[in-house]
Amino acid sequence: MIKTVYKAHILYTKEKSHFEVLENGYVAVDTEGRVAGVAGSLAALDCGDAPVVDFGNKLLIPAMNDMHVHAPQVHNQGVAMDLELLPWLQNYTFPEESKYADVEYAERMYRRFLHTQWLFGTMRSVVFGTVHTESTRKLMHLYQETGMGALVGKVAMNRNCPPALCEDVEAAVAGNEALIAEFNAPDALVRPIITPRFVPSCTPDLLKACGELAAKYQLPVQSHLSENTSEIAWVAELEPDSEHYGDAYNRYGLFGQTPTIMAHCVWTRGKELELMKRNGVMVAHCPTSNFNLSSGMAPIRTLLDEGVRIGLGSDISGGHDLNMFRMLVYAIQVSKMHYQLDHDKSFLTLPETFWIATKSAGSFFGKVGSFEPGYDFDALVIDDDVLYPAEYSLVHRLERYIYLGDDRQIVHRFCCGREVPEPRLL
Ligand code: GUN
Ligand code: FE
Repeated sequence: MIKTVYKAHILYTKEKSHFEVLENGYVAVDTEGRVAGVAGSLAALDCGDAPVVDFGNKLLIPAMNDMHVHAPQVHNQGVAMDLELLPWLQNYTFPEESKYADVEYAERMYRRFLHTQWLFGTMRSVVFGTVHTESTRKLMHLYQETGMGALVGKVAMNRNCPPALCEDVEAAVAGNEALIAEFNAPDALVRPIITPRFVPSCTPDLLKACGELAAKYQLPVQSHLSENTSEIAWVAELEPDSEHYGDAYNRYGLFGQTPTIMAHCVWTRGKELELMKRNGVMVAHCPTSNFNLSSGMAPIRTLLDEGVRIGLGSDISGGHDLNMFRMLVYAIQVSKMHYQLDHDKSFLTLPETFWIATKSAGSFFGKVGSFEPGYDFDALVIDDDVLYPAEYSLVHRLERYIYLGDDRQIVHRFCCGREVPEPRLL
């Protein structure tokens, strides 16, 4: 049954080649929060006497998905951008994450984090918590309270880290099982995800236990892959039997045996790329993080053309910015730098990048990221009045919003059909 019809200028990317544009279009949303139909006229939709909410001259677009983000690094956003990955982790990231043993500190910071995500219209996320079960539970409850969707991981780590962040295998399994028991409902907006931090942080025993949890509870998996050349060399030393970094996950059932997303993949090539394709592993491309930590330029054109699944991630605080619209711009800019090095690799177009951020990324959550019938209605209403809309086409209005806009122009946010109100800070 149709609950509400929304009228606005509607833009979305069913295909990566172009935008679907409906000037003064209509989208009908059913009582389950799903799109029932989208059309240029009301008569074309079978809506009975459902109310029509008219957004006038505003833009209606799919909401943003942040496919790789560390909630407990929010306090370090914009701090220590002068190191590469491994010293950055040791000197800044691990000390900050250690503070999350304190659930009150965690709640204060997590509320700040969620508020910023809300401001920028990020309605779904794939999130790293910390090793701490109680703080991770708090983060999951806070997501539930806001009404935004998330896959949230209690981080598994037991080697090469400070004692405060080290958890033995039994405790890691018990903590995960407690969260799984509480949160793992099939269609829930907030669900657990198995989260080995990365190979250097996890002994083979811990990786094995993570793979077993993913298989037993049919849960998705997230981690980091081939981000930095020193990290890759270290993994080769730690796991000499693995053919490549990806293989060190694959041999423990953490590489596509259940839905898997790997952050970065800056240096993924050859057999690792083949295995990602074969196993349907998604890449979370994190351009700002890759710039800030001098990790490199991920070969997104190659990954896209090879048919690898891709989404975009902020990766704060390797990345400095939680605004996913800006992440589209950075992704395009990285691809243009790549193009300078290799003219065979054309740079990303705007619709391609929008599709990556919405429909491609959203597929990790189910039917999310488009306005085709059956998709969850995750949407943003953009009032771009300050950007001189009358002078531009609808696609150029969206492009200008992506490049120039910010949270002030987002006037409504919907996740799975429900309007998401501003979350409370502490
Ligand atoms: N690899 C392992 N942990 C991290 C992290 O917190 N951030 C990034 N960017 N890479 C990692
Ligand atoms: Fe990360």
